[in-house]
Amino acid sequence: MSSKKKKKLYEGKAKVLYSTENSYSIIQHFKDEATAFNAKKREIIEGKGVLNNFLSEFFMQKLNSINIPTHFIKRLNMREQLVEKCEIIPLEVVVRNIAAGSLSKRLGIEEGTRLPRPLVEFYYKDDGLNDPLVTESQITTFEWASETELGEIFEIALRTNDFLSGLLLAVNLTLVDFKIEIGRSLKSEGEKLIIADEISPDTCRLWDSKTKTRLDKDVFRLNKGSIAVAYTEVANRFDLLPKNVKSAVK
Ligand code: TMP
Ligand code: ASP
Repeated sequence: MSSKKKKKLYEGKAKVLYSTENSYSIIQHFKDEATAFNAKKREIIEGKGVLNNFLSEFFMQKLNSINIPTHFIKRLNMREQLVEKCEIIPLEVVVRNIAAGSLSKRLGIEEGTRLPRPLVEFYYKDDGLNDPLVTESQITTFEWASETELGEIFEIALRTNDFLSGLLLAVNLTLVDFKIEIGRSLKSEGEKLIIADEISPDTCRLWDSKTKTRLDKDVFRLNKGSIAVAYTEVANRFDLLPKNVKSAVK
């Protein structure tokens, strides 16, 4: 598959997308920029892009291997990966196992309370509106996704949660919650849904299972230390980094 960069298609807060010679694939470049609170807090964290490139490759490849389709094709270099181009559904799909973040704030549930069952929430992707929480009825009424797609999205979200929870627990990490984005594959006729964007400590809450230490973007959001150190710890638990990277992001 072609992986020669052509032109910049889109620049977001953490990534840049480039077209390739193949209309079905694009290059996803991970930047070192960290933002929070809709980019009100912003900082360059050296090595973050490299870490998220390796971590997202790892999680997406594992999901592909159990037939939860993702956009990931292959990693190209330290900061870039080749991914399948798709039509992004404008929703942030959040799954929560333990109360934290905006759920705790909105409903007054103490952080760290395990939920009776995994909770799936949808946020409408619109920075201008601050990504508001939306209902299933709003999603189908405004045709952001069809009812059939919504059913599939629930299934993908819950299967992903079960699988990633187990994978992470094996290295003593608790998956508190995470966000995924879903796209419609442009390749298949039958509107197949695939996981897109990234899965990394930027988009998950990961707590050490024993000490409850946060090893995710909350370290940055709440000024609790260095995310380069925290993300390196996650990557090292899976032994993902080449030797030279292990020291570069200390
Ligand atoms: P929240 O508690 O702030 O709603 O976040 C829930 C999960 O979604 C958490 O794992 C962080 C992730 N997330 C993103 O990936 N991007 C975002 O813009 C936000 C607000 C949350
Ligand atoms: N990614 C979002 C932002 O920049 C919010 C967050 O992750 O907290 O600003």
